[in-house]
Amino acid sequence: MDELEQVEGELLLSGETAGEEVTESTRQFFVSKKAAALLKHEILQGYVKPFVAKVGRWAPGGRVVYLDGYAGPGRYADGTPGSPALILDSAAEIADIRKLDCYFVERRREDFKSLKALTIEAKSRGLAAEALSGKVEKHLAYVLKQAEGSPLLAFIDPFGLGLSFEALTEQLFGSRQPAGSTGRDATEVLLNFNSNAVRRIGGLLTSPKERPGKQATLKAMDDACGGDWWRSEFRKSSDNSEAVERIANGFALRVGDAVRSHSWTLPVRNRSHHQPAYHLVLFSRHRDGLWLFGEAISHAQTEWRREILKSSTEGTLFDDDSLFEEEEKQKKSEWISEIKENIVDLLRQHKSFTVDRYHSEIMGSVLGEARQMHIRAAVKELHREGKTGCDGKGDIPDMRITRP
Ligand SMILES: C[S@@+](CC[C@H](N)C(=O)[O-])C[C@H]1O[C@@H](n2cnc3c(N)ncnc32)[C@H](O)[C@@H]1O
Repeated sequence: MDELEQVEGELLLSGETAGEEVTESTRQFFVSKKAAALLKHEILQGYVKPFVAKVGRWAPGGRVVYLDGYAGPGRYADGTPGSPALILDSAAEIADIRKLDCYFVERRREDFKSLKALTIEAKSRGLAAEALSGKVEKHLAYVLKQAEGSPLLAFIDPFGLGLSFEALTEQLFGSRQPAGSTGRDATEVLLNFNSNAVRRIGGLLTSPKERPGKQATLKAMDDACGGDWWRSEFRKSSDNSEAVERIANGFALRVGDAVRSHSWTLPVRNRSHHQPAYHLVLFSRHRDGLWLFGEAISHAQTEWRREILKSSTEGTLFDDDSLFEEEEKQKKSEWISEIKENIVDLLRQHKSFTVDRYHSEIMGSVLGEARQMHIRAAVKELHREGKTGCDGKGDIPDMRITRP
């Protein structure tokens, strides 16, 4: 069983609500990093800097606020950076042009101590960082107050269920200017929607046993999802993976509708044949945020594949690097072929269109894997083949693809 599943297992068997109960196996999470955590961190790293550079341009003093609501100790036991250490490094890298004001919240005392030490060290490097001890729910109002007038990015990364739907939509998003205002009011949330929690808690629905804490756990899931709609989704799914997809996507849509935001949902696995450990969901009210996220997840998945390949060839005579390069080359050419086919299909239906308008149709099944450079390569090939009048030069989202 993987670590996160163990964590969830203990959570529910302990008869607690589906909130986060710290157990010995929860601790194991911070001993060394698994592939799913690697992907999450690559995304965070790849996203935060360009996001801050972009939205900070219109913010007073170039200041952007970052909240890590479930921060953990900051670093893994082996010294590998956790999300707080990674973000502080990003803050240092862009300190010349932007001020990233970081707030880290951690409930567990031992982890808070390490986190606090990390922020003290960061402050000595001239960075703005504050560690807050206790539950994120307790500190949310304070952090939102600090974020008034500045763009805000919140990372919500619990082991189990996180903020309630109400806290997320009404308190966090609700305290911010609505969509359509300037970059300085940007509000983005990157959220870990825990698929293990969905499987475990959903399993309680279909189990005839009345375990202690069962009703409270189901109620906690209702609170996280904004109602009991997920129960019927779970029951009508043919298996757990369908249930998890339906519920993660249903959650993203409901939050998006409530706060007038777009969302992008990405399943995150420890191995390609595993069920997702969680879904990362980005809520963004601006198209640029989604484009930046698309770039970040594409790069991050390349690193994830590299890591997976490395662990699968460990102890063998395979040359990881050349195998990896070979596989990536193959993938890239498959992606470009698919994008080309999709564009040709779209050109049959429309005389011309912008990439932004038909982004998901252009990407088709490679959405989230391929990125802008692959769209450009596809358009250039089509141009050479005389299938479009567009030469593939210029900004990708605004690029207009025309019939020849
Ligand atoms: C998945 S870990 C965080 C990992 C971290 N974001 C990273 O990427 O390195 C979740 C953390 O949230 C903490 N936690 C649990 N419930 C919390 C709450 N209500 N408020 C703040 N922290 C909480 C746990 O103690 C645990 O350290």
